[in-house]
Amino acid sequence: MENKISELELNEFIKIVTEISGIDLNEKRNILMLKLPNFISKLHFQNFAEFVNKIRLNKQLRQEVLDFVTIGETYFLRELSQLQDIVVYAKSLEKKVGILSAPCSSGEEVYSLALLGAKNCFKDMYILGIDINSNAIEKARMGKYQGRTLQRLSESEKKKFFVEENGVFSINKNEICVCKFDMCNVLEDKFLKLGQFDIVISRNMIIYFDYNSRVKLMEYFYRVLSNKGRLYVGNADIIPETKFFKKVFSGGSSYYEKM
Ligand SMILES: C[S@@+](CC[C@H](N)C(=O)[O-])C[C@H]1O[C@@H](n2cnc3c(N)ncnc32)[C@H](O)[C@@H]1O
Repeated sequence: MENKISELELNEFIKIVTEISGIDLNEKRNILMLKLPNFISKLHFQNFAEFVNKIRLNKQLRQEVLDFVTIGETYFLRELSQLQDIVVYAKSLEKKVGILSAPCSSGEEVYSLALLGAKNCFKDMYILGIDINSNAIEKARMGKYQGRTLQRLSESEKKKFFVEENGVFSINKNEICVCKFDMCNVLEDKFLKLGQFDIVISRNMIIYFDYNSRVKLMEYFYRVLSNKGRLYVGNADIIPETKFFKKVFSGGSSYYEKM
């Protein structure tokens, strides 16, 4: 494989990734120009054509591509006030509450909610985290963290909700509600079979999607939410005009209610 790809080849790659995942990589063109040839060579393809032809057909290759292009930046207690609002709302429902975190990346969002729930004496929740990136889901399932991702947690939160060994903090599952993780693409049929949820949280993914995928995603979220269910998106996520949800302002924040 040559150490370069052409603009046309890059366009083709970006188009395939958008088709599969919704992610629009156009803003990452420069970095992809540099990194993609190396990625393709490592997979032992002789040329670009051979590589792209296989992406659609070969499940394993498709996953490797998705793991390569997805950005999983996340950390504990990110956009904290929204997480607190969600927990207060969940508790007010006075029943077992189903929450879907889509996407959850390496699990910090899910465990943050669980931890805030426990601090509010509310563990009657079931939180499912899903993500398209296989490495992220593996890490979420392990629940072991170290370094910067933990920096917003207080010492007492770390002490109560983690077991520490040599600087590695393992989430203490006895202290929190049930948290599960599954590898899943929000734009595939499998997503619609995950069940019905009272709350869907989708933060810092929609921002990377192209317009058509955002539109499709709104319908998919509508379908997995129960009656009057709520959708919470991140501060930077822009959702398209939709007949499926109405925006509700509450205090300083907002959410989308299923219509
Ligand atoms: C920046 S992280 C956000 C994680 C977390 N929600 C947060 O706000 O900290 C974005 C995640 O979206 C995931 N993602 C991108 N496209 C996806 C898709 N089609 N289906 C499921 N997850 C996807 C990526 O793998 C990545 O882990």
